[in-house]
Amino acid sequence: MDIYPQRLEPCRHRHRLSASRDTREPNMALSSPLVSGMLLLLCLIAASRACTCAAPHPQMVFCSSDFVIRAKFMGAPEVNETMLYQRYEIKMTKMFKGFDILGDASDIRFLHTPIMESICGYIHKSQNRSEEFLITGTLQNGHLHITMCSFIVPWNRLSAAQRRGFTKVYAGGCEKCTVFPCTSVPCKLQSDDHCLWTDQLLLGSERGFQSRHLACLPQQPGLCTWQSLKPQMA
Ligand SMILES: *[C@@H]1O[C@H](CO)[C@@H](O)[C@H](O)[C@H]1NC(C)=O
Ligand SMILES: *[C@@H]1O[C@H](CO)[C@@H](O)[C@H](O)[C@H]1NC(C)=O
Repeated sequence: MDIYPQRLEPCRHRHRLSASRDTREPNMALSSPLVSGMLLLLCLIAASRACTCAAPHPQMVFCSSDFVIRAKFMGAPEVNETMLYQRYEIKMTKMFKGFDILGDASDIRFLHTPIMESICGYIHKSQNRSEEFLITGTLQNGHLHITMCSFIVPWNRLSAAQRRGFTKVYAGGCEKCTVFPCTSVPCKLQSDDHCLWTDQLLLGSERGFQSRHLACLPQQPGLCTWQSLKPQMA
């Protein structure tokens, strides 16, 4: 499952098409600003629908992200209007995933995101520059890319178990195991390397016990089970 929606090119495209038709056929009724405004509005509605975010289990987030880091946001974003993008300056304090690919990133001081929420842009709400965030995202054209659907959470709002998952444990389940969402009964285990994720079913929420305290890890070859993220006692 891809939790990072693609950029919504069709919308800009459609808008541009209507503009070019206007210049070629200036007498057409369709060229009124009202109509193009409505087109834009429709476009934004479609975009906001397209941007509904799934809320996956944190282990799925970890596994499907290109990078997972801990960082502080250094202030308001820098806007690039031509590209409909903006970038946030960050100060990274830890990297948990992405060592291999971030070598290819042109600059890990910046996170790129679409300019508006309606086209899935991430808007950072906190003003506190000392607050640390867990940030996950993808690498696109050599840039660190985030969207409003990215898992970006204040570090101290993660449960201790989730912190342990992101820093050490989730990685061990990525290759061999799959967290399999069960959204309606009956749900059946389809494979021994799946762990059934029932948080949504039981609580109507993704903040359930399995999300906060468990990881899906190999137990024997070909078999994965939910395991506690509590630190093992020696
Ligand atoms: C916007 O992005 C384009 C392409 O990366 C770049 O050429 C241009 O200089 C940028 N504009 C600003 C204001 O940063
Ligand atoms: C900013 O974040 C830091 C680290 O989380 C915290 O200790 C501090 O109290 C916060 N400051 C404000 C004004 O919220």
